[in-house]
Amino acid sequence: MNIYNKVSQVRNQVKEWKRAGLSVGFVPTMGYLHEGHESLIRKAASENDKVVVSIFVNPTQFGPNEDLEKYPRDLKKDSLICAGAGADLIFHPEIEEMYVKDACTSVNMNGLTDGLCGKSRPTHFSGVCTVVTKLFNIVPADKAYFGEKDAQQLAIIKKMVEDLNIDIQIIGCPIIREEDGLAKSSRNIYLSPVEREAALVLNKSLKVARKAIEAGVKNTSDLKGLIVDMIEKEPLAKIDYVEIVDSRSLKEVDFIEENVLVALAVYIGKTRLIDNFTYFI
Ligand code: PAF
Repeated sequence: MNIYNKVSQVRNQVKEWKRAGLSVGFVPTMGYLHEGHESLIRKAASENDKVVVSIFVNPTQFGPNEDLEKYPRDLKKDSLICAGAGADLIFHPEIEEMYVKDACTSVNMNGLTDGLCGKSRPTHFSGVCTVVTKLFNIVPADKAYFGEKDAQQLAIIKKMVEDLNIDIQIIGCPIIREEDGLAKSSRNIYLSPVEREAALVLNKSLKVARKAIEAGVKNTSDLKGLIVDMIEKEPLAKIDYVEIVDSRSLKEVDFIEENVLVALAVYIGKTRLIDNFTYFI
């Protein structure tokens, strides 16, 4: 498995594979890989002849007071995970390789990016759309794989690919959880043992909401109330948002009549964690 840091190297390699008639799967990441990423790489390897993983902590998707500087990095461990899961190439560019000094083009979207995480992270999705478009141009793969934990990001990327006629199939993959239910995330490393325990409230409150829906509660303000009440009982938790939205438009709904995304973002201490489930009618 090669690790390339130049755009031209990756582009040439992928083009060569395509010329040879090989299919290419792509897993874009910011590194510090965990079993969630590993599941994406394994799925890509099972569906394609070749797999590219990008590892790039993208500065444009971090807000001014966010964790860009301290975002965890471990290329050595990441390489082992990639090789073990069936990747053929890692693209690991420096910031200067990805963004020319006078870059003045970005990809922006309206609507889907406004709610949920977009409310408290107003520049985040423009950074994501811009870097993902650039990565798709650098790695002209057949399929790209993203986790459903970032449900809003997945919906946005699917729409962006449709809107901009980008020739790639977007595959969403299920959330991978720790045994006790905490969704795997590179940011879990920030949690102290006490915070790690407190963080279980995210998944626990979602489970309570799912049970209530299954028992017939369809009014979303009642459902959100159940989640909020439970999280507020956890002293280390501070809610950023709890939302129930249409799973395609990501618009808030009052009653559950179509498939919905039940999503939340909660600070545990200083660490912002997200989790969700989709309820299919
Ligand atoms: O989900 C992530 O890790 C990032 O947002 C992505 C898609 C790699 C873009 O930087």
